[in-house]
Amino acid sequence: MRVLGIESSCDETAAAVVEDGARVLSDVVASQEDLHAPYGGVVPEVAGRAHEANIVPVVGKALRDAGLSLAGLDGIAVTNRPGLVGSLLVGVQAAKSLALATGLPLVGVNHVLAHAHANMLCGTALRFPLVALVVSGGHTSLYLCRSPLEETLLGATVDDAAGEAFDKVAALLGLGFPGGPAVDRLAREGDRGAVRFPRTRGAKGTLDFSFSGLKTAVLYHLRGQDARPGKGANRAGVRPADVAASFQEALVDALVKVTLEGARRARVRQVVLGGGVAANGRLRERMAEEGAAAGFEVVLPPPRLCTDNGAMIAALGTRLLEAGVRDGLDLDVHPRLLRNPTVKKAPPRRPAPAGGRR
Ligand code: KG4
Ligand code: ZN
Repeated sequence: MRVLGIESSCDETAAAVVEDGARVLSDVVASQEDLHAPYGGVVPEVAGRAHEANIVPVVGKALRDAGLSLAGLDGIAVTNRPGLVGSLLVGVQAAKSLALATGLPLVGVNHVLAHAHANMLCGTALRFPLVALVVSGGHTSLYLCRSPLEETLLGATVDDAAGEAFDKVAALLGLGFPGGPAVDRLAREGDRGAVRFPRTRGAKGTLDFSFSGLKTAVLYHLRGQDARPGKGANRAGVRPADVAASFQEALVDALVKVTLEGARRARVRQVVLGGGVAANGRLRERMAEEGAAAGFEVVLPPPRLCTDNGAMIAALGTRLLEAGVRDGLDLDVHPRLLRNPTVKKAPPRRPAPAGGRR
């Protein structure tokens, strides 16, 4: 089964063709990093316009690289949630147009869950039920997945996403955007015990995360109690590497503790990581060590599969299509995640959605 995966939820226009949910035949990503770098973050309007310009060439290249025409595909999967609404619309509209023109089955995919399913592309078997932590610039979400069709959101950030906190602290340290990789590198030269930043979490008893207080604590440490973001210089005598290492330790501490607590509560055996921040060296190290010590099998994706791509959308899309899940041409976009358990009912298999297959 060959599935085209389309991704446009944030600042990457991506398309890929994946065979049987595991073999990547092509994987094309048009990054908008340079467009957003001057602003220190993703500007939604700029992202939507760039997706519009990129989507057709990116999908065309994914098909060419795979050596296929549309007739060689068996289905189309597209990110329809969560993300920037204007960005999501571009990918979903492209996918629906292709489905209408070809009669191929179409399925909308949860981007956050797809990050966890990226692990299938490197030969790792996902053993359900599992707990997945997806950490990126836009999301920090903990899921219980009973199957590829059945997920419950156990917890999420109540304010900043982990990657957003990395990017904002990087900006305070003058490290540029995206800042996560730069903080990760600088932290290796620092003392992670130098500053005891607060270990913030969501409300007591929940599996939620909260990082805006940590980010503010870094700001005050660097520039004093009256500091405002974007104003003033860092205090003399502060070692940026120590701040990077101490901040990273506090953030990773919360991610590891809440995730393992979620895994214990849900009584799963496998803990799976995904998303851009899953490339972070200290997070990988601690999750592997502490997860194994607690008796879990920890799955860490190779760094190249951590960031946004179309292959992960095709991988999860394949599982959904195989189970008979289909969306029609009324498929809509959803900027936010739903808290309620989502169970996709596989309808009886039938050729869908519209038009005749060529
Ligand atoms: O998944 P992703 O490519 O895009 C989103 O969906 O957001 O994640 C990008 C985020 C950025 O915030 C970036 O700073 C962060 O992942 N990131 C890292 C590392 N590599 C990327 N954060 C910490 N350490 C890293 N090594
Ligand atoms: Zn992502």
